[in-house]
Amino acid sequence: MEKEKYPILVVDDEESIRRLLQKELAGPGREIFIAANAAEALDMIRTHRFDVVIMDLRLPDSTDLNLLIQVRDSSPYTEVVMITGQGDINSAVDAMKLGACDFIPKPFNLDQLELVVEKAHQRARLSRENELLRHSAGSRQGATNFIGNSQAVRNIKFLIDKVAPAKVPVLITGASGVGKDVVAHAIHNQSSRAGNPLVIKNCASLQKELARSELFGHIKGSFTGASDSREGLMYYAHESSLFLDEIGDLPLEVQASLLRVLETQTYRRIGEKEERKVDIRFIFATNRNLAEAVELGQFNEAFYHRINVFNIDIPSLRERKEDLPLLVDYFLTTLSPDQSPYRMVQKAMDCVLSYHWPGNIRELRNVIERSIILAENGIITERCLPREMVITAEKSEVSITMESVEKEHIMKILNFFDGNRCKAADALGISRKTLYRKMNQYKAG
Ligand SMILES: Nc1ncnc2c1ncn2[C@@H]1O[C@H](COP(=O)(O)OP(=O)(O)OP(=O)(O)O)[C@@H](O)[C@H]1O
Ligand SMILES: [Mg+2]
Repeated sequence: MEKEKYPILVVDDEESIRRLLQKELAGPGREIFIAANAAEALDMIRTHRFDVVIMDLRLPDSTDLNLLIQVRDSSPYTEVVMITGQGDINSAVDAMKLGACDFIPKPFNLDQLELVVEKAHQRARLSRENELLRHSAGSRQGATNFIGNSQAVRNIKFLIDKVAPAKVPVLITGASGVGKDVVAHAIHNQSSRAGNPLVIKNCASLQKELARSELFGHIKGSFTGASDSREGLMYYAHESSLFLDEIGDLPLEVQASLLRVLETQTYRRIGEKEERKVDIRFIFATNRNLAEAVELGQFNEAFYHRINVFNIDIPSLRERKEDLPLLVDYFLTTLSPDQSPYRMVQKAMDCVLSYHWPGNIRELRNVIERSIILAENGIITERCLPREMVITAEKSEVSITMESVEKEHIMKILNFFDGNRCKAADALGISRKTLYRKMNQYKAG
């Protein structure tokens, strides 16, 4: 893979200086851009993200350090280095106050120049990475395997394998705790974008007024309270994947703006005219029925169709109980505090199997975690399980009625005699008439 190049912008009205810097700063990991004045520089800043901008303190078309202010506003992570002449010391101090990180006095000492630029680059990279980390908190969860061997889980794994390398948006649906986050991480981790961190946002936590700004970013002064320019999630998810969880909770007005990004692969920060191109793989998740939300007018119909191109629906745990033994084993191993082996006795396993798991796999995980604490000698009995689970299991045994036992026995005998009612009645020790009545009652035969 080609090593990432970090872009540097040099702004100076003197051609000799531009040429000198271009030559001296050139290196394998760098790409040098040149602007002869503030106007040209501003044009470039709108379309590129520079790690470092090196600018002359005195530019004919930029008074009062105007360009510096605009660069700082356009991207908070760009480090600005000022080129200063003799007698510029006061202005240089002003520049530092306005956010310039360093300065290089003319005439240049080339070693010093290199040192200052490298330091500025390190700082820019660090603050960008810190921001990314903040947005991708929890993405390490991606290491989780998607455990299960039911037909449903095999089908989900097949869909993940197929869709991961593509760029189409994916909509993951399913009740709370079924593993939507796990699937979202798996898709990202199996894609060519896996080298960049997955950016995650839970739309339920987006404040309505700020949702648009969080997604797209804004420039200083674009609305009340916008005291600084900010980048949005689009910026951080560029060349990676953006996982928008609880998409059903995204305010309606913002859905239309997001639809535009999906369609045009461009976005605009609030208050900015210029469009920026982005390359983002979108992953959405929800436990709401979006089709129904569309019917109710609570969800944008066009947006719904656009995000529902590829749907992965995860069934509830009670619909795939055959996954339970594997999942129990998995959690007994991974949650074991000292890697010692834990074992669940059959009676406890029966309770696990007959419970209806309203909280799905999250609930199972919690139950196993708790049972490990209560286990004695590594053995998990039904006493280590929450009481309501044991009661449910007992209930399901107690709820077997005489009627159902009788029906099952009659069916078995009828089958044994290939449906011959005379022989069946004899074997059951009842009259043929009674057998007919019971068959009618149970709708058997
Ligand atoms: N198939 C699986 N194999 C292993 N662990 C799983 C699996 N599915 C879910 N989990 C675990 O169960 C817990 C809940 O899963 P997850 O957070 O993905 O659910 P969710 O569907 O996103 O829930 P919510 O709707 O509440 O956000 C997590 O700890 C996750 O690691
Ligand atoms: Mg989730």
